[in-house]
Amino acid sequence: MGFVRMTLVSLAVLAGATSAQNANLKRQVSQLRPSYDFVVVGGGTCGLTVADRLTAALPAKNVLVIEYGDVHFAPGLFDPPTLWITPNPDYAPSWDFLALPNPDMANRSASIQVGQTVGGSSAVNGMFFDRGSHLDYDAWTEVSGPDWSWKSLFPYFKKSVTFTPPPPAVAQQYNYTWDISAYGGTGPIYSSWANFQWADQPVLDKSFRELGIRPRTECAGGDKEGICWVPASQHPVTARRSHAGLGHYADVQPRANYDLLVKHQVVRVVYPRGPKSGPPLVEVRSLVDNHLFNVTVSKEVIISAGAFHTPTVLQRSGIGPSSFLGTAGIPVVLDLPGVGSNLQDHVGPPVTWNYTKPYEFWPLPSQMRNTTFKDEATAAFNDPVAHGPYTMAGGNNAIYVSLPHVTAQYKDITKKIRRMATDGTAASYLPPDIRSNTEMIAGYKQQLLVLANLLENSESPSLESPWASSEPIALVWAFLLHPLSRGTVRLNLTDHLAMPILDYRSGSNPVDFDIHLAHLRFLRGVLDTPTMKQHGAVETGPGAAVAADDAALRNYTKEQSFLSFLHPCCTAAMLPKPKGGVVGPDLKVHGAKRLRVVDISILPFLPSAHLSSTAYAVAEKASDIIIGDWH
Ligand SMILES: Cc1cc2nc3c(=O)[nH]c(=O)nc-3n(C[C@H](O)[C@H](O)[C@H](O)COP(=O)(O)OP(=O)(O)OC[C@H]3O[C@@H](n4cnc5c(N)ncnc54)[C@H](O)[C@@H]3O)c2cc1C
Ligand SMILES: *[C@@H]1O[C@H](CO)[C@@H](O)[C@H](O)[C@H]1NC(C)=O
Ligand SMILES: *[C@@H]1O[C@H](CO)[C@@H](O)[C@H](O)[C@H]1NC(C)=O
Ligand SMILES: *[C@@H]1O[C@H](CO)[C@@H](O)[C@H](O)[C@H]1NC(C)=O
Ligand SMILES: *[C@@H]1O[C@H](CO)[C@@H](O)[C@H](O)[C@H]1NC(C)=O
Ligand SMILES: *[C@@H]1O[C@H](CO)[C@@H](O)[C@H](O)[C@H]1NC(C)=O
Ligand SMILES: *[C@@H]1O[C@H](CO)[C@@H](O)[C@H](O)[C@H]1NC(C)=O
Ligand SMILES: *[C@@H]1O[C@H](CO)[C@@H](O)[C@H](O)[C@H]1NC(C)=O
Repeated sequence: MGFVRMTLVSLAVLAGATSAQNANLKRQVSQLRPSYDFVVVGGGTCGLTVADRLTAALPAKNVLVIEYGDVHFAPGLFDPPTLWITPNPDYAPSWDFLALPNPDMANRSASIQVGQTVGGSSAVNGMFFDRGSHLDYDAWTEVSGPDWSWKSLFPYFKKSVTFTPPPPAVAQQYNYTWDISAYGGTGPIYSSWANFQWADQPVLDKSFRELGIRPRTECAGGDKEGICWVPASQHPVTARRSHAGLGHYADVQPRANYDLLVKHQVVRVVYPRGPKSGPPLVEVRSLVDNHLFNVTVSKEVIISAGAFHTPTVLQRSGIGPSSFLGTAGIPVVLDLPGVGSNLQDHVGPPVTWNYTKPYEFWPLPSQMRNTTFKDEATAAFNDPVAHGPYTMAGGNNAIYVSLPHVTAQYKDITKKIRRMATDGTAASYLPPDIRSNTEMIAGYKQQLLVLANLLENSESPSLESPWASSEPIALVWAFLLHPLSRGTVRLNLTDHLAMPILDYRSGSNPVDFDIHLAHLRFLRGVLDTPTMKQHGAVETGPGAAVAADDAALRNYTKEQSFLSFLHPCCTAAMLPKPKGGVVGPDLKVHGAKRLRVVDISILPFLPSAHLSSTAYAVAEKASDIIIGDWH
């Protein structure tokens, strides 16, 4: 098998030659050039994609990536993908946030991680590698201006990955389905399936079919309302995690023009002669000795620090809501109220049950506590063609259901959304510190109108429930794919360099509860299917009595919701300036010369997908735009 051989060779090269591969790894200011053409702030999912593409396309121009974390390739090269069974002690570091309590979610706080390592969140995520619906991106371009439609992004989704179908025997064993026309690129990030599933994976698949949800052959081609097989971001043969730190950095042949500085925090960008005279300088702090210095840039600065830290870099630079900057004592360089506003994440409660009849499948995840089984699993993972439980990340399945398929009363919900956008109540749901800002209000109203259309479309998912097994805990989560509530990311007033303060404000827009309740009532239906009855499924939450009572079901949602499925976004949104936007369709920060944002913060609202594949596609498209400007 030539393919396997080739892969093993490339792994061996990586194993033996980390120093050569990392020839341009820099650890202190004395190793840097006096000036760079481009500086990328943040060596994460998007930042490394952009740096890789720019250094390849513009060999005469040099790029410096500045990353807070370090290179963390676990012993044995990579971290095993499986987290949820037995956490890996060599897991790369992340920032661990505890958001402020949510007054509308029983004062509970979301706890959230983001990656703090070369590769960013792609190096620590759940590897669930789905794309949104074409309708999500078409709605995005409606509010943002031209060129970010599905049609324009689809080629970049393709370009970003190499998809490898499973071997025929594996495909047949698990009933994997796909349509190769959704793929065809040769990007350095791998998309593939594990050659393993837990033995009860078909139970929920069958039950969801009985509930009337249609199975789809392929969900990555723009149409995903239904039951989906979702690939993982993993190598097809070794099953190791594929992430930006590998595909867009370590696997890249050394390039003289590609430098990566680790263990340094970008403090801010500085415009000595004002924001119309750019590019800015980049002020950087060593995390080893606290040394502070400026990096001179001749072409552009690209901020890719992710949904929480891109706003911190901008706010420390005096680019943000002027009222907040005033409170923080930071001179205003540009009044952009959208910086760190418009925060969204996927949130939602579960439906839980017990099986009252013997649940006899083998193997189930609890076998990972059986040392013999676990040792076998480890050995299987380390075989040349990896197999067994460790090859599977969080799972490969989910249902995506539109609001019209969730409830016949969907129009009552969309009517409420349109009403709040037109009668002026929308503003009262915005975060207090931007609530009276006319730009933010205008942008929010437009978002609500576009989201109402999206939610009314029977092909546009509103609910997601992923699954892999019903064991050891029998539950399915009801992700709210298109939340209407908006939160904030603001600097810590006593320490601007510390982790920012996150105010999620989940449930602050009351219509989110109408949607949560509809989702829960729909999802409970799965327990009435013949397959669930055959296994003696008995609901433990929310239960029939609670589900029958709006107030009780609302309480259940407040008390039981998972408050972050780790998809924060939208804190430097691509919207026009008069709509509270931070960047335009060219990703340039409004009013700032030679400064762009390229990461998950630029989405105006969440797609009906986990975010990494969209992050790669955004970064690929952004790279083409930047290369086009400087070629
Ligand atoms: C635990 C977890 C599980 C997830 N699960 C999934 C999943 O299964 N599927 C999926 O599709 N998505 C998942 N996601 C989300 C997805 O991975 C992210 O949305 C995406 O990777 C974000 O990319 P980004 O480029 O915007 O930011 P990141 O990849 O987070 O990159 C930002 C980088 O900037 C660096 N940085 C921050 N501040 C500074 C500074 N001041 N100076 C220098 N560097 C800085 C950070 O250290 C980081 O490396 C998950 C995320 C997490 C954290
Ligand atoms: C949440 O906390 C606030 C402030 O401590 C308090 O006034 C409020 O009653 C609490 N709400 C709930 C639902 O516990
Ligand atoms: C695969 O599909 C066939 C036909 O629909 C079904 O009988 C079988 O149980 C499925 N197997 C799995 C593992 O889902
Ligand atoms: C970076 O440059 C700005 C503008 O010239 C200056 O105000 C700032 O002090 C410099 N920072 C450092 C650490 O030299
Ligand atoms: C469901 O199972 C859990 C765990 O085994 C048990 O604690 C609980 O009492 C059960 N509940 C019902 C309603 O059977
Ligand atoms: C533990 O795992 C081994 C190896 O897979 C298996 O043979 C054995 O039956 C398992 N033990 C139990 C109690 O399930
Ligand atoms: C803000 O930073 C200070 C100093 O590091 C810290 O003590 C405080 O807990 C932080 N505040 C919040 C709300 O996180
Ligand atoms: C919902 O929770 C509130 C606050 O805890 C409580 O006062 C109220 O009685 C609850 N309502 C129901 C129907 O459970």
